[in-house]
Amino acid sequence: MMELRIQLIPTGEIILSPGKNGENYCHGCKPPLVLLVPLHVVASDGVDRVGVQDFVLLENFTSEAAFIENLRKRFKENLIYTYIGSVLVSVNPYKDLEIYNKNHMQRYRGVNFYEVSPHIYAVGDNSYRSMRTERKDQCILISGESGAGKTEASKKILQYYAVTCPASEQVQTVKDRLLQSNPVLEAFGNAKTLRNDNSSRFGKYMDIQFDFKGAPVGGHIINYLLEKSRVVHQNHGERNFHIFYQLIEGGEEDLLRGLGLERNPQQYQYLVKGNCPKVSSINDRTDWKTVRKALTVIGFDEDEVEELLNIIASVLHLGNVQYGGEDGVACITSDTQIKYLARLLGVNGTVLTEALTHKKIIAKGEELMSPLNLEQASSARDALSKAVYGRTFTWLVNKINASLTYTDDSCKHYSVIGLLDIYGFEVFQHNSFEQFCINYCNEKLQQLFIELTLKSEQEEYEAEGITWEPVQYFNNKIICDLVEEKFKGIISILDEECLRPGDASDLTFLEKLEDTVGGHPHFVTHKLADTKTRKVMSREEFRLLHYAGEVNYNVNGFLDKNNDLLFRNLKEVMCMSENKILNQCFNREELSDKKRPETAATQFKASLAKLMEILMSKEPSYVRCMKPNDSKQAGRFDEVLIRHQVKYLGLMENLRVRRAGFAYRRRYELFLQRYKSLCPDTWANWQGKAFDGVATLVKHLGYKPEEYKLGRSATHTHTHLHSPPGGKKYWVWRGPATLFATEEGLETRKHGLATKLQAGWRGYRQKSKYQKLRSSAVAVQAWWRGILARRRARRRRQAADTIRRFVKGFIHRHRERCPENEYFLDYVRYSFLMNLRRNLPKNVLDKSWPTPPAALSEASELLRKLCMQNMVWSYCKKINSEWKHQMEQKMVASELFKDKKDNYPQSVSKLFVNTRLNGEDINPKVVQALGSEKMKYAVPVTKYDRKGYKARPRQLLLTANSAVIVEEAKLKQRIEYATLRGVSVSSLSDGLFVLHVPGGDNKQKGDVVLQSDHVIETLTKIAICSDKINNININQGSITFTSGQGKEGTIDFTPGSELLVAKAKNGHLSVTAPRLNSR
Ligand SMILES: Nc1ncnc2c1ncn2[C@@H]1O[C@H](COP(=O)(O)OP(=O)(O)OP(=O)(O)O)[C@@H](O)[C@H]1O
Ligand SMILES: [Mg+2]
Repeated sequence: MMELRIQLIPTGEIILSPGKNGENYCHGCKPPLVLLVPLHVVASDGVDRVGVQDFVLLENFTSEAAFIENLRKRFKENLIYTYIGSVLVSVNPYKDLEIYNKNHMQRYRGVNFYEVSPHIYAVGDNSYRSMRTERKDQCILISGESGAGKTEASKKILQYYAVTCPASEQVQTVKDRLLQSNPVLEAFGNAKTLRNDNSSRFGKYMDIQFDFKGAPVGGHIINYLLEKSRVVHQNHGERNFHIFYQLIEGGEEDLLRGLGLERNPQQYQYLVKGNCPKVSSINDRTDWKTVRKALTVIGFDEDEVEELLNIIASVLHLGNVQYGGEDGVACITSDTQIKYLARLLGVNGTVLTEALTHKKIIAKGEELMSPLNLEQASSARDALSKAVYGRTFTWLVNKINASLTYTDDSCKHYSVIGLLDIYGFEVFQHNSFEQFCINYCNEKLQQLFIELTLKSEQEEYEAEGITWEPVQYFNNKIICDLVEEKFKGIISILDEECLRPGDASDLTFLEKLEDTVGGHPHFVTHKLADTKTRKVMSREEFRLLHYAGEVNYNVNGFLDKNNDLLFRNLKEVMCMSENKILNQCFNREELSDKKRPETAATQFKASLAKLMEILMSKEPSYVRCMKPNDSKQAGRFDEVLIRHQVKYLGLMENLRVRRAGFAYRRRYELFLQRYKSLCPDTWANWQGKAFDGVATLVKHLGYKPEEYKLGRSATHTHTHLHSPPGGKKYWVWRGPATLFATEEGLETRKHGLATKLQAGWRGYRQKSKYQKLRSSAVAVQAWWRGILARRRARRRRQAADTIRRFVKGFIHRHRERCPENEYFLDYVRYSFLMNLRRNLPKNVLDKSWPTPPAALSEASELLRKLCMQNMVWSYCKKINSEWKHQMEQKMVASELFKDKKDNYPQSVSKLFVNTRLNGEDINPKVVQALGSEKMKYAVPVTKYDRKGYKARPRQLLLTANSAVIVEEAKLKQRIEYATLRGVSVSSLSDGLFVLHVPGGDNKQKGDVVLQSDHVIETLTKIAICSDKINNININQGSITFTSGQGKEGTIDFTPGSELLVAKAKNGHLSVTAPRLNSR
């Protein structure tokens, strides 16, 4: 089954990607959808619309209920961040939200606060930009009670810088080290408490150093008061520092063996007090791997790691050192631990054993070893463990600092952003010296917050000359004073008790407190309390009414912890250690220093004072973290707990100060920059002063005078997130409605502008595309036209040359061949030959022939003959014997009749046949009569009687020797060719002919007048058969013939319109024949 992950990033884009394990499926969907951000939460402009994203926009801003409801509404939609102006309020979601990926980081980069949903990245980015643009060091103060998410927030900011800041390869190492310092410090300085599974048990202030390009180039960490007591003791349900469990759970077998450790935390006295070796939210084994890797990244070599782990293991062994003994004198019952300790700490076992059971006293210049009782020995051992661990932790911080040190000498100036992640305010059933210090620290931070926000804000209004009603807020300075005031403060009294000779104890300290600060409104003890309070307080406790709530502190151990004493002989042993780390931690000079070291509380007070100085010197941003419930549960919003935090964090006051004055403020320049598009006079650019621009704009927008105020120029020493450096000019709104209206207006306008920009851009793009196309087309066109023109010019030139040569040649055509005329002559010849080739005669009859130039007349003649011969030759090649015979006859016919007889031309195309009468047409008797005489040709003819010219049908048969006239079966007349004198025929188109035969012979009846429809064929055949070609006479006008007995007859031929044969009145035979051809 495929799963789909939908991720909405603040840009409004939806990212679809396959899901990972362990995400929540939207069960209605197939395939299952993992909805990481509720769909309706983030609008397309990237701004969330649940509740208000800035509390100053709350209409009912004085109502705590409305405040909490807004937080709740947003929390339910996983919107854990909300602003109060520039302060970020964050509610711990206790679950992983998909709002910390690279897309989100990019989204917040360089973007104004109001343009995107509230986010820790926005705070980080804002500080970064302020640092870059104003060149002023920044700090981000993250506060809130234990488990509220401070450490997570600081890590997120660090990651944000690591991803978004520019970086070279060199810087990458620094980035890695900055990031990797966290797991190491958390392993050694964090522990599971009842409030937080990963509670920071030390304070941390980290400077990130940036070069002029804005790249992180180094860092520096200051650590504050580690809760060392945890090394030796944990409350029920709590653990020691993570590193012990990580080592035992994750350490390789060999390593553990070498350290003499077993893979079972229950074996170690220092790990069993809280009875909580395993925590479900923590995986010690993987954390161990992370820490090992991180140590390498930071630059630890293998020896250093080994020595560090030796120390950690030795602390566990120290915890297992058991004392026994009689008469109150302690001795160590087992040697095993000492053996391990001697090896791991690199000290002499015997010396160590002595130091753990004796105390060195210097009396009258003499050193004496005084044995310790069981209790003293145990606390000496614990003191050693705490000292070893505590100093190693400080060494670790120094080591990390060394690896983060900015070494590039070329750039000495860098800007810094400080990140303060310090233990949060905490209250347990039993609160001791550590809680006192932690809560005091939180008082100081709250004081700083008040100083820099509530107080200064109000002062700023005054300075800006803006009418203003002061807002009352609780100033916790009174509590700070109670703790830290010189001589009269709790720390002073504690120090006094610690230093005072005599029997000072925790209880005498308590009495002293009652005496000195007993009347303080924020201080109560059992003795001073009313009856109701007494019920919940023991006699060993004092109560401080902190800004964040009441805390009862048990004074037991206050003096010891404050003294933080380690017996001299134990120090001496440690100074002799061969372990290089311990060697650095325990300095021999310390032994010779006779001055009493400062107490823990005083040191802490001093370090806090220094911290305040550091923070005051920078421009601060605030992140106020809150926890939604006490059970570390996701999705549970405990209103009572939240209300409490809202109260003590002073968020309502913070909001009231913002709102009672003016909810929103902007620098004139920024205001103009953002809203100038709403007024034609200020759009696109305002040339005058920003103040005048704002006035013009506001007039155009029609704000009522009570809705806004324009502040005057002023200079301040401290500023806020949105504040400009130095002189500030503010544009301020009083209520959110005006801001909403303006923002709405801007929203609408933005769409219009976007469309316009889009249209402009599209137009511009299309135009440039078109222009590019056009110029390309023009270029191609010009190039092509050039080619064509050059080609044409070349041809024209060639043509001109040709013509010129031609003309010249023409002029000189009659001269001998010379350069002037050779072209012409060649051309003439060439063109004649080419012309000839095209116009050659088609056949032998075609006599056409192009006229040759004079020079070629001879060649032409030769060619013509050649051509004709060729045609004849090919013609002849084609003819067969039958055709040849036909042609021979046709030749004879041509010789006889061509141009002589009218119907000759018609006969030319008609082929001569062998005979016109077949066997069956001729009577068999005739055939029989002819006997062996072979018949060559037979044709039906008409015979005209010699007298009367009657026409009678006859057949004319030609044999080899004679022409025979046949009437049916009778051979009417046989004319021997030898006797045939000739044949007469007219020149007209008729078919009459006369066979002239000698008369007077009985056999012969005289000339015979015949008519044949194929007269040309018939006569040709007769001429050939009788071999009388020369005896064929063609007559014009008339033919005279002789009939038998010497009589003569005449046939008159006249041309007419049709063929008519008749006897004329003159006794002649008159033949009218049509003229077919004019000869
Ligand atoms: N933004 C967050 N997203 C998811 N989980 C968070 C977030 N912030 C905090 N948490 C959860 O809350 C736990 C406690 O947070 P964190 O350690 O930052 O608290 P803290 O304020 O530093 O407390 P302490 O003062 O004890 O050090 C974290 O371990 C983590 O599980
Ligand atoms: Mg923390």
